[in-house]
Amino acid sequence: MKALVLSGGLGTRLRPLTHSMPKQLVPVGNKPVLVRGLEKIREAGIREVGMIVGDTGPEIERVIGDGSRFGLRIHYIPQEAPMGLAHCVMIARDFLGQDDFLMYLGDNVLSDGLGGTLAEFHEHRPAVQLLVKQVTNPSDFGIAELTDTGEVYRLEEKPRRPRGDLAVMGVYLFTPAVHEAVRSIKPSARNEWEITDAIRLMMEQGQPVRARVYTGFWKDTGQLDELLECNRMVLRTECPSAVLGSVDAASTLIGPVLVEPGASVVRSHVVGPTIIGPDAVVCDSEVGPYTALGSGTCLRNSGIENSIVLEGASLSDVTGVEGSLIGREAQISRATPGRRFILGDHATVQVGA
Ligand code: DAU
Repeated sequence: MKALVLSGGLGTRLRPLTHSMPKQLVPVGNKPVLVRGLEKIREAGIREVGMIVGDTGPEIERVIGDGSRFGLRIHYIPQEAPMGLAHCVMIARDFLGQDDFLMYLGDNVLSDGLGGTLAEFHEHRPAVQLLVKQVTNPSDFGIAELTDTGEVYRLEEKPRRPRGDLAVMGVYLFTPAVHEAVRSIKPSARNEWEITDAIRLMMEQGQPVRARVYTGFWKDTGQLDELLECNRMVLRTECPSAVLGSVDAASTLIGPVLVEPGASVVRSHVVGPTIIGPDAVVCDSEVGPYTALGSGTCLRNSGIENSIVLEGASLSDVTGVEGSLIGREAQISRATPGRRFILGDHATVQVGA
């Protein structure tokens, strides 16, 4: 069995961050979303991975490399434009050959392993096996309707008037029968070759399509709120209490706080779950809960909670920061008088009273 990991796309909903980094490399709990996906794939016993990449391919390759670090062999498959999930299957045809494969969307985060769904796929070996989960916003997803025994009898991509609330997650298991289906569909109204159209065609042809209801945590991290929710979930479940850097006697750490090597906490109050990344400096500040500070970040006389701060960013004399995603080397400081900004294209700033 092989895996096909989709890491192309534009990431428009996380701009301006995604002008300079692929959305799949944004970290939750200080680990890129894509690395989390690759770890799940490896845990499920898969070794061969085809990685679909777009314009941000070089940065993904720089971070992920040949996969040996994760016990994987990764083959990069360039996609010239994000033309749809079924298009990804088409261009991976040579890599996939006649093998069954797991297709994994590189911006998805899961809490549980994939062993159960793989075992069910091997037991029934349907043409397609999906993972689904109940959501409150079904119009944003592919929506499946299932029988009590897990056969899918209806599937719709981002329905305007959804008939159900079981969203198709970014984990699909296919037999090679999918290759003929992706060649037989036409692009959709949004001009993408939709994998849901290919799966629907297989259903119409009477090929078995099954789905398993996922009980763990799952998020598609394409938007800020989802990303922060993932960060909270990951910190809640993974963050240990450990001081590998330095914390002075005038500081307090409450709950699980990880102070990474080289980091220093001085005259500050940190509430877990929170990670202070390698070589970060936190001075006269309040941090957490649910905050991940990346490596080399610097906080002076500031306050931040429920946020993700990427490497090298700094906050100085700014309190009350929350629900934020702060990009690499970004600087936030106090202006006197008034407010001053140099903002990247498509940046979002919300200023309180
Ligand atoms: O997250 C689950 C949802 O993913 C499903 O419920 C939908 O049925 C499915 O169509 C898909 O919807 P999205 O609109 O969320 O897909 P998105 O365009 O965000 O792409 C998902 C991942 O695949 C993302 O990491 C980018 C990558 N991608 C996407 C396209 C369209 C590619 O690598 N190439 C592409 O052409």
